[in-house]
Amino acid sequence: MGCHSDMGGQLAKNRHQNLSCEVCHGPMAVHSGDPKKENASVPKDDLFCLHCHEKSAARPAFMPQIVLADHGGEKCRDCHAPHAPKS
Ligand code: HEC
Ligand code: HEC
Ligand code: HEC
Repeated sequence: MGCHSDMGGQLAKNRHQNLSCEVCHGPMAVHSGDPKKENASVPKDDLFCLHCHEKSAARPAFMPQIVLADHGGEKCRDCHAPHAPKS
């Protein structure tokens, strides 16, 4: 957050605010120790969104869930910004 306050600022205003950076970006300890190393790996596919958002009876009701076949059919990020996901 000290280095990426712009990202934190965006996140703080929306429902992804309680996710840690590493839940999406993967382990970043080496990078935060030396920013020249292991530059932020940005998730490219939709699977990492679906791991949390695909409709499942096992998920708690507060969790926003979608049925993929009924939802868009394009890349999640064409419509939702990861740091500010409200479409
Ligand atoms: C919900 C998953 C998610 C969370 C949580 C998240 N990010 Fe991201 N972040 C992404 C994705 C996906 C991208 C790529 C965005 C794009 O290209 O449009 C990204 C992009 C970035 C980038 C730009 C990287 C580049 O090469 O352009 C930085 C820096 C960043 N995030 C930092 C953070 C920090 C710091 C936090 C925690 C405060 C955080 N992110 C939390 C998913 C997430
Ligand atoms: C680690 C789990 C996790 C990942 C990965 C994740 N989300 Fe979320 N997302 C959540 C949770 C939890 C909430 C709701 C939090 C709450 O209401 O307290 C949420 C909320 C949302 C919302 C509702 C926003 C609103 O304001 O109503 C959308 C849309 C969304 N996420 C889209 C995405 C997309 C697109 C991706 C991939 C770029 C993604 N999420 C990745 C956990 C995740
Ligand atoms: C064509 C545009 C579009 C695409 C592509 C898209 N969405 Fe959405 N999504 C929306 C709209 C519009 C809404 C309703 C408004 C909102 O909640 O942001 C929505 C709502 C959601 C919600 C909230 C559902 C709820 O009940 O609160 C989640 C979660 C979500 N999308 C996840 C995803 C994921 C994951 C992907 C990729 C597999 C994706 N979306 C692709 C447009 C899109």
